[in-house]
Amino acid sequence: MSVFDNHERYGNVSRFFHWGMTLLLSVQFLTAIARFLFEDSWLDELMWGIHKPLGFLLLLFVILRFAWALINLSRRPASVSKAALIGHKALYVLMLVIPALAMMRQYGSGKAFSPLGLPLMDGFDTGKIDWMVGLGNLLHGELGWLLFAFVIGHVVMTVWHRIRQNPVDVMARMWR
Ligand code: HEM
Ligand code: HEM
Repeated sequence: MSVFDNHERYGNVSRFFHWGMTLLLSVQFLTAIARFLFEDSWLDELMWGIHKPLGFLLLLFVILRFAWALINLSRRPASVSKAALIGHKALYVLMLVIPALAMMRQYGSGKAFSPLGLPLMDGFDTGKIDWMVGLGNLLHGELGWLLFAFVIGHVVMTVWHRIRQNPVDVMARMWR
């Protein structure tokens, strides 16, 4: 198993990013589902506390993952279809834009923000930056649910390719 990708399969680092982020994003979706379905319940109180720091961590991960994907671009297994290519690109765009919008809204709110103990934003008391807060409010949650739907579609297509073995079982590229 190699560090880099090749035309038959993804390498160790790509797999680490893919499955590590799958795990973290699943937890992130659980925090959002708990909030959406049971706002102010004990479950929401328990889980929502990790939404912002975990979202920030996911932003760092996706920047590194994107850089790694670019480094491996000419080596990666070819997409099975135009739809798969567009679908993977859309997943990247959403994984980047969703936490970036939230960070922008957080900055625009003027409140201090120290995710994972890092003093990232000092905050200010000159009033909110309305367009930053407005854009975040408008799009962050909606795009978050869109990503959730895309991930389900992505998993369904993976299973479909595996069952039909058509055109190839893509799972073999990312697992084992
Ligand atoms: C990939 C990372 C992220 C994903 C997938 C994600 C997903 C979501 C989703 C689906 C919702 C809607 C919940 C609902 O409808 O009740 C939401 C809400 C929220 N998220 Fe995130 N989030 C991410 C990162 C972040 C980050 C980094 C922050 C803050 C720095 C943040 C702050 C919030 C806040 C304050 C809300 C409630 C207000 C709203 O619905 O926009 N999120 N998030
Ligand atoms: C949060 C969840 C997920 C996201 C955001 C996601 C995203 C992606 C992306 C962007 C790729 C392109 C390769 C890369 O750059 O990493 C990919 C490939 C792949 N993913 Fe996922 N994935 C998720 C979960 C899953 C799950 C649960 C499965 C399996 C059931 C899966 C199976 C695969 C397979 C087999 C490939 C290779 C596809 C190919 O080469 O055509 N993914 N995924």
